Amino acid sequence: MKPVKVGLMGLGTVGTGVVRIVEGHQEDLQGQVASPIVISKILVKDRAKARSISVDHGKLTEDPWEIVRDPEIDVVVEVMGGIGSTKEIMLEALERGKHIVTANKDLMAMHGPEILAKAKEKGCDVFYEASVAGGIPIIRTLIEGFSSDRITKIMGIVNGTTNYILTKMSQEGAAYADVLKEAQALGYAESDPTSDVEGLDAARKMTILATIGFRANVSLEDVDVKGISSVTQEDIQYAHQLGYEVKLLGIAERQDDFISVSVQPTMVKRGHPIASVNGVFNAVYVHGEAVGETMFYGPGAGELPTATSVVADLVAVVKNMKLGVNGRQASVSYKEKKLKTDEQ
Ligand code: NDP
Ligand code: HSE
Repeated sequence: MKPVKVGLMGLGTVGTGVVRIVEGHQEDLQGQVASPIVISKILVKDRAKARSISVDHGKLTEDPWEIVRDPEIDVVVEVMGGIGSTKEIMLEALERGKHIVTANKDLMAMHGPEILAKAKEKGCDVFYEASVAGGIPIIRTLIEGFSSDRITKIMGIVNGTTNYILTKMSQEGAAYADVLKEAQALGYAESDPTSDVEGLDAARKMTILATIGFRANVSLEDVDVKGISSVTQEDIQYAHQLGYEVKLLGIAERQDDFISVSVQPTMVKRGHPIASVNGVFNAVYVHGEAVGETMFYGPGAGELPTATSVVADLVAVVKNMKLGVNGRQASVSYKEKKLKTDEQ
């Protein structure tokens, strides 16, 4: 059996989880795809850095083009983050016929249409399940599970770091800055946590969910965003007195042909399922015209939960390679959206 060769870009929180799952679950993976899956090269910023996992040092490279130009590599797994140069690297990898799995919501929210168009042109897959809600398979659920329905609302907690912070502030009276440091140490936060606490990470994820769920081209600029950096302990105590919890909620709604998307700290009545989503957990509520209410819950960030989604995408890519087909995202064509304005 010819192995499927993977170029892994990034060996931080998520990349380490990918190595652990590909190695630890190799037999199960091979059983599903009928080929060994081999990580043949790994991109890092600093080869000399101490790692929490033992890897063959000879596989490490600091040059992304070494992976892109390697004709033996079938799939690039991008878990290094970044937008501008990462986009160029991804486009060139597609140009050379490599499939892509990425956890990069920044990239997909801002340049998804261009990357997916290139993938379609080159007959490649680009899968990005881990970009939203870590270990919850929400993207494939929206694309495949609700293909028969018309979704009218997607709402939820889609950032683990801020939910971790709000939970600790609510349950333990902890100070915002201390809990943010904890979330960083646990590998939940972005390299620049401003995007977590100011709501931008959640806005990017809501852009991706609304685009897929409403089958429309939603852009990040259209999302109203407010983060949690100004939420105080007093706000949380006041909400408690009224019987509420404060949560950073993403809300995307469609009424007829109009779409609105927002991210903001919201008072959620205790007793509502979303009020009891705590810590790094995420929850996404989806309402469809036919199905009614559904809710999906699970870990929204962290090494192994996120890597679970990445490696599941990798399995899907390899299955497609074997069947000679491309799947899910690349084949979808979206309608132009209309924006909801204040007058409507
Ligand atoms: P980390 O900062 O932990 O790891 C990033 C890795 O990429 C490191 O190994 C780093 O190298 C390498 N890297 C970064 N930039 C470059 C570069 N320019 N050239 C070469 N190597 C580079 O990030 P995470 O693992 O937390 O996140 C990775 C991606 O996954 C991001 O897009 C993030 O948004 C996304 N994501 C993260 C989740 C999480 O829970 N952490 C959950 C869902 C998505 P070195 O090790 O040498 O520094
Ligand atoms: N920083 C992100 C979060 C990682 O806390 O949700 C998962 O996308």
